[in-house]
Amino acid sequence: SVNKDLLRLKYHFMAPAYWINDPNGLIFYKGEYHLFYQHYPYAPQWGSMHWGHAKSKDLVHWEHLPIALAPSESYDLDEKGGCYSGSAVDDNGVMSLLYTGTIIRDGKVIQTQNLATSKDGITFEKYEGNPVISSPPEDGSSNFRDPKVWKHEDTWYMIIGSSKDEKGNALLYKSPDLRQWDYVGVLAESDGTMGTMWECPDFFPLGDRYVLMFSPMGMGDRKAIYLIGDMDYETGKFEWDVIGDVDTGFEYYAPQSFLDGKGRRVIIAWLNAWDWMPWFKNFGPTSKNNWCGAMSTPRTVELDVDGRLKFPPVEELKVLRREHYHHANTKVVPGVPLLPEYVGSDCLEIKVELQLAGCQAEEVGFVLRASKDREQQTLLSYNLQSKELRFDRSKSDGWSGGIQTVRLEASETLQLHIFIDTCVIEVYADNYRVALTNNIYPDPSSVHLDLYAVGDIVNLNTLDIWKLRSAW
Ligand code: FRU
Repeated sequence: SVNKDLLRLKYHFMAPAYWINDPNGLIFYKGEYHLFYQHYPYAPQWGSMHWGHAKSKDLVHWEHLPIALAPSESYDLDEKGGCYSGSAVDDNGVMSLLYTGTIIRDGKVIQTQNLATSKDGITFEKYEGNPVISSPPEDGSSNFRDPKVWKHEDTWYMIIGSSKDEKGNALLYKSPDLRQWDYVGVLAESDGTMGTMWECPDFFPLGDRYVLMFSPMGMGDRKAIYLIGDMDYETGKFEWDVIGDVDTGFEYYAPQSFLDGKGRRVIIAWLNAWDWMPWFKNFGPTSKNNWCGAMSTPRTVELDVDGRLKFPPVEELKVLRREHYHHANTKVVPGVPLLPEYVGSDCLEIKVELQLAGCQAEEVGFVLRASKDREQQTLLSYNLQSKELRFDRSKSDGWSGGIQTVRLEASETLQLHIFIDTCVIEVYADNYRVALTNNIYPDPSSVHLDLYAVGDIVNLNTLDIWKLRSAW
């Protein structure tokens, strides 16, 4: 029934109620993880923006805290604006949030960068000298938001997402004290193929390189891109030579990164539960239960041997594992069910390795969240001819629809790592270099799980399935 909220997520972070978008201010502060997020605390839809707040000791179990920022000042009080996205830094023990204040005046958007500080990490005070950056550069655009701040040597740096001549860019600023900011220049910009505006840019060192992540507007499905390159602090320029997708799914947006106490670079993104087309009006099946949107599970960002990125989920998630089902050295035979009924659940972790070398099959994959009669099902499959990983939601639920494919060069083996949490599926492939996150809204009773092969037998090296418990 509606009141029971059977879609509620069991281990993905959700707000106590109502609307969530971007993660903000991710920081490991005094031994705890803090997560802030774009929040509208009055309805399950976007509205004047607040910063919701939670903390965690392990990135899995979260404790809700009071709302950290609410619209209140001339620069952030607006029904259609508010306290937009930003980041957090530890300034000598003072937790400092940098965020975009958005207001609309005479039909024009005005975005400024602002500071709020806290000594206890719970109660925040907006700086009386706000805005700390009161206008975009002279030749800049009024799209001027989502500051991400870091320290290099003794100087604070900030990038801001913006655009120029319909091309997205990231603008670089620097400051000695988080209050006085100087414009350095354009850190990086689109070559014309990477979106019209870069939302939520994030910039960090990784090994001997730098990574720029952003969420481009105006690129259809391409929702979170990374560039890898080198940073020159003398010129303030970032030169990149590698481009990739952070996640190729439909629902993964605005990832933000932070460095934790273990030296890991971790990212969390917004999982929207929202139909983007047409005109962002369709708020999805969960909104009747008074919530909309969630956070992805945290992933680490690592440089792979060939210089690309991989995104393994944090190992802390293993505490969620309950009953374990293991299978090894068996065969997936076309037309023959392999798995017993009892492995099915709406909350699972699955790891599989399939043998592809010498395999004559056309296709192999999983039937996920299926009804008994398979009328409802989600297919995650690999086509050995076209070398495509396919996520097929056309029979998932009659709401989310669509088939999505990702090119994947698997030759020896196909390894998949899958997380299911009621209406969210996170898939990892190609040694965590491909991540794919989607929502599905099947009937709660559709929990059947199986493997299937088309054309010929596929050898299964190992299969591990864990039922996962709720983190709440
Ligand atoms: C991205 C975004 C940001 C903005 C925020 C407003 O989803 O549009 O650019 O700061 O959401 O909620």
